[in-house]
Amino acid sequence: MSQLAPSILAADFNRLGGQISTIEKTGTEYLHIDVMDGMFVPSISFGMPLIESIRKESNMFFDVHLMVEEPARYLKEFKDVGADGITVHVEACSDLKRTLCSIKELGLKPAVAINPNTSVEEVLSVLDMVEMVLVMSVHPGFGGQKLIPKTLDKVRRLKDIRRERGLKYNIEIDGGINRENIKDASIAGVDIIVAGTAVFKGNIADNISYLKEVLKNAS
Ligand code: DX5
Ligand code: ZN
Repeated sequence: MSQLAPSILAADFNRLGGQISTIEKTGTEYLHIDVMDGMFVPSISFGMPLIESIRKESNMFFDVHLMVEEPARYLKEFKDVGADGITVHVEACSDLKRTLCSIKELGLKPAVAINPNTSVEEVLSVLDMVEMVLVMSVHPGFGGQKLIPKTLDKVRRLKDIRRERGLKYNIEIDGGINRENIKDASIAGVDIIVAGTAVFKGNIADNISYLKEVLKNAS
């Protein structure tokens, strides 16, 4: 069954701690944390101090998605504040292999992300080094956008390559997931599904239980 990874970008930051604890009580394993630098993407979200604060009260897997130019500059800092996995964008790294190795050397799970206009070919040479490939299903930078359906073809492709090459990476999709399309993502073969708006808008526990029920029935 695909796992859900709520993205705190859509949280009410005035009530962040309580909202995270609501999520954790549902038995959700992954928490998706979007860091934006205002360079790789136009917007700026939050950084190390916020992650350090929420780490104190959560045991979930911190899936840190760096929408940051040259993320190699900050890997140690993200480890120190409590990241479990770090995802870097192929489009943002001058030396992707080196950056992924550094994440691994820090004892964290390395992952690579591809934007909607970036093809799977761009990451073929690192697939044996990563624990996860993140397929962006919207252009990164903002929550609440509409999923671009053709990005699901890349999920299917990555699933085929994984089988052909006997690899083990997880496939994650990020952006525009809602109650209607989550089943399609699951059927396409996604292992981890990021959801911001679909989790945080309205009642969090109800949303999670609805989304997980769909995932259960799709598996
Ligand atoms: C977009 C972020 C996403 C975002 C998803 O740049 O990477 O993780 O929070 O938000 P929704 O689910 O609202 O599209
Ligand atoms: Zn993200």
